[in-house]
Amino acid sequence: MRFDVITLFPELFAPLLSSGITRRAYESGAVDVRFANPRDFAVGNYKRVDDRPFGGGPGMVMMAEPLHACLSQVLSERAVGAPVVLFSPIGKPLTHAVVERMGSGEGAVLLCGRYEGIDQRIIDAHVTEQISLGDFVLSGGEIAAMALLDAVARLQPGVLNTEGSHQQDSFNPALGGLLDCPHYTRPDVWNGLAVPEVLMSGHHGHIERWRREQSLRITAMRRPELLVSARRAGLLSNRDEEFLRTLDSSP
Ligand SMILES: C[S@@+](CC[C@H](N)C(=O)[O-])C[C@H]1O[C@@H](n2cnc3c(N)ncnc32)[C@H](O)[C@@H]1O
Repeated sequence: MRFDVITLFPELFAPLLSSGITRRAYESGAVDVRFANPRDFAVGNYKRVDDRPFGGGPGMVMMAEPLHACLSQVLSERAVGAPVVLFSPIGKPLTHAVVERMGSGEGAVLLCGRYEGIDQRIIDAHVTEQISLGDFVLSGGEIAAMALLDAVARLQPGVLNTEGSHQQDSFNPALGGLLDCPHYTRPDVWNGLAVPEVLMSGHHGHIERWRREQSLRITAMRRPELLVSARRAGLLSNRDEEFLRTLDSSP
């Protein structure tokens, strides 16, 4: 799976691709990441990539010409129809569903904006979807691109230390898309606080049930809308529903 990142600051990605899980995904080729810099496609002595906005106002806008030349070069190296993602606060939120879709396809071109954003005509001509990291404004799309690459990398077979461990994580549709349960490790008593007894019992059925109930409890408390979706999708068992009825905060 190949991701082409279009960015004025490719050096920002070096720590991501040289550390931990993302490094393993990158070095093994499970996630092939390449970079293209619009500045390399700019003309003139100053290699200018931004200009003042038509209509006035503060800030600068990334110019269409270098972006178009850069994108065209990248797209010419890829199969026709590759998704072109622009990171933007006006995009759809980056969710697990988006990550799963991106992580099971051929990859994408990831376009990182800077300044006030990019010339709208590039969006109209090339961009197939816009993705937001959340309801706040970053200085550039690079951190959003890194978030997507990281989340995609850990879903690839052979990338995590324990195969399938991501299936226990929050938002996994196979588990109803619930939030994860609490985790504990040694020592069994720390600072006077003991690990829940059931986790020390060695009884797998009881442990599994405890984890499920903790997930249900935490999801009901923090993200009740996820429980409503799980219920609608038929992903809650009678036993789950019975447990939820015992909670004050159940939706
Ligand atoms: C300073 S921002 C531009 C913000 C834009 N004028 C607005 O108000 O929507 C510069 C670039 O950072 C990226 N960016 C900023 N916030 C983002 C977010 N929440 N999610 C994804 N990308 C973001 C986009 O690529 C954007 O073009």
